[in-house]
Amino acid sequence: MKFFLDTANIEKIKEAASWGILDGVTTNPTLVAREGKDFDTVVREILKIVEGPVSLEVISTDWKGMVEEAEKLASYGDNVVIKIPMTIDGLKATKILSSKGIMVNTTLIFSPAQALLAAKAGTAYLSPFIGRLDDISSYGMRLVEDIIQIIDNYGFECEVIVASVRHPMHVLEAALIGADIVTMPFEVLQKMIKHPLTDIGLERFLKDWEKMKG
Ligand code: G3P
Repeated sequence: MKFFLDTANIEKIKEAASWGILDGVTTNPTLVAREGKDFDTVVREILKIVEGPVSLEVISTDWKGMVEEAEKLASYGDNVVIKIPMTIDGLKATKILSSKGIMVNTTLIFSPAQALLAAKAGTAYLSPFIGRLDDISSYGMRLVEDIIQIIDNYGFECEVIVASVRHPMHVLEAALIGADIVTMPFEVLQKMIKHPLTDIGLERFLKDWEKMKG
């Protein structure tokens, strides 16, 4: 299972990379805007740190604009993946870009039908937003199950990125289903490590060791 960080924050990306378990990064306009820096500066910094896939999202909503933006972004590095929203124009742009060998991550997927269309258009990654579905009392992880089933049925060559992840249980559920990738906020990654019994256990080991020494 691959772990991506869903952030544009350089410090968080550096920290997760230093743990040796970071496979890639996903960004979106909200995440980049949150950093308060110019887009190009943020992107180039991220690409210096991360060797794996880095998803950068287009702002255009028409297919021509999307393709133009995507071609510019793709020139920033071999590991750049273009995030394209799940719209008709997005679908057209995906077909063109994938035919040119530019990797696409189809974003804002909320239904299996949308995932099927994106897969057919040749996307490399499908990003179902599970947290936002959970937020509206829908079962986000069910969408992931359905998408994986569809990919397996037809042997589509794309990977599922479980996105809009809110807590460690989302990661665990995605792992149990067998999702290829989870992209998560740094805070979720931190929470995955913590367990009070680990802290208590370590403290006890160290105390006992000190006692033995004298
Ligand atoms: O990067 C896309 C996605 O992960 C956004 O998550 O928390 O804004 O729903 P969220």
